[in-house]
This record gives sequence, C-alpha cells and structure tokens, in this order.
Amino acid sequence: MRNPIIAALDVPTAEAALKLAGQIAPAVGAFKIGGELFTAAGPDIVRQIRDTGAAVFLDLKFHDIPNTVAKAVASATRLDVQMLTIHTSGGLEMMRAAEKSAQDRAKSLGFQPPLVLGVTVLTSSNDGTLAETGCEPDVVAQVERLARLAVKAGLRGLVCSPLEIVALRKILPADVQLVTPGIRTGAEKADDQKRTLTPREAIQAGANWLVIGRPIVAAENPRAAAEKILESLK
Ligand code: C5P
Repeated sequence: MRNPIIAALDVPTAEAALKLAGQIAPAVGAFKIGGELFTAAGPDIVRQIRDTGAAVFLDLKFHDIPNTVAKAVASATRLDVQMLTIHTSGGLEMMRAAEKSAQDRAKSLGFQPPLVLGVTVLTSSNDGTLAETGCEPDVVAQVERLARLAVKAGLRGLVCSPLEIVALRKILPADVQLVTPGIRTGAEKADDQKRTLTPREAIQAGANWLVIGRPIVAAENPRAAAEKILESLK
C-alpha cells in the first residue's frame, strides 16, 4: 500500500521543519509546506525537504490572473514538488494555464509534472460567506460547481473537506485524486477542525491522500502518532 499520509509541516522555522521531518519521515508518504513555513523559510526549505528524498506538497493556494498563476506554477514545478494548490474560483482559464504550465515546465526539465490540486470552497466558509461575496449561498452546490469546472480545465486532483468526498466521488471521473484535511483520530484535544473524519473513514469514503497536521505535529511523540495512524489504515 502507498502511504497516503501527508504530514503538514505547520511550524514557523526551517530548523523546526527539518527536525520534525527527520523524526516522522519513515511513517508518512509526503510533507505539506504551507504559507507559514514557506513565507518564513522560502524555497530553500522545499529544496532541503526534497533533498531528503521525501515528496512535497506545496500548499500556497495560488489565485491571480492566469499568466501570473502559470508563472508561479512553473516556479513551483522547478522546485520539483509533487503536488501544489490553486484556487478553482480563479476560473477555467486560470486553471487551464496552471495545468499547462505544470506539464510544459516538467517536460522541459525531465520531471514528472506535479499534481495541480484545485481548492474549491475553503472549509472556513459557510453559506453566509458565499452570500457576502456574491456567490450562490449553498456550499455543497458551489463545491460541486467548482469541482466540475476544475475537471473541465484538466485538473487531475482536488482538495476537499472529508464530508464532501462521497458527493464528489459520485460526480467526478474515478481517476481524480482527492486530498482531504480535517482528519482526526479522536485521541487529540479539541481544536478548530469541526467537521472531521478518522483516517480510515476518509480512505473508505474515497480519499486518496490525507493531510494531517496537529494529530501528528502536536503529539507528544510525532513518530509514534504517525505510525499509529498508518497502522489504523491496514
Ligand atoms: O492540524 P490540522 O490537521 O488541522 O492541519 C490540517 C492542515 O490542512 C493545515 O495545514 C491546514 O492549513 C490545512 N487545511 C485545512 N482545511 C482546508 C485546507 C487546508 O485544514 N480546507
């Protein structure tokens, strides 16, 4: 079985990220580098993690004019990341430009193209957030609409909430990769994730990858926590 755990390196410095990555590498399938770590430590931390042989998911959620997003995706592809995120609300043309840029740049470098993942509606948004920004005030309908648009644009994967996996699996081609955060084992302290599934439930619902932060990162023994989650999937 391929290890579907993506550990979120949600720490503020390169030193902390490298220490954590070193501890848990054997028990996880990839590392996610997001806005906090990337803004503090820059592309060097991506290179350092890649140099350990680990796969990297660069979660910077690009959303801009198509030309700018295409160039940002080209820069990320040059870093040889395996996954990256863009906002599907940037529209069809922006998503097409992102996917094309990933394919073209990877080809010219002789790399595997990264999986360009579309983010639909952030899990922090609700019907009220959609209404205040002028969208149809129905999160489920908006997620499905953006997911279909992403597939039309040629994206091969999406980030979604665990509670959207089943609905998206019904409307999307089977080969679309679904990556889900909001994973909780039940053993950790309560935090801001409200709509969660366990790792096993999320995989059974049809997720391909699980983004897991605090249940691993904030555990007393991160390596043991990751191993326990992996074991729960067997
Ligand atoms: O600590 P926790 O397991 O909640 O971390 C989940 C990770 O996934 C964090 O890096 C968070 O930014 C990210 N994320 C999320 N919900 C989304 C998208 C990304 O929690 N909808």
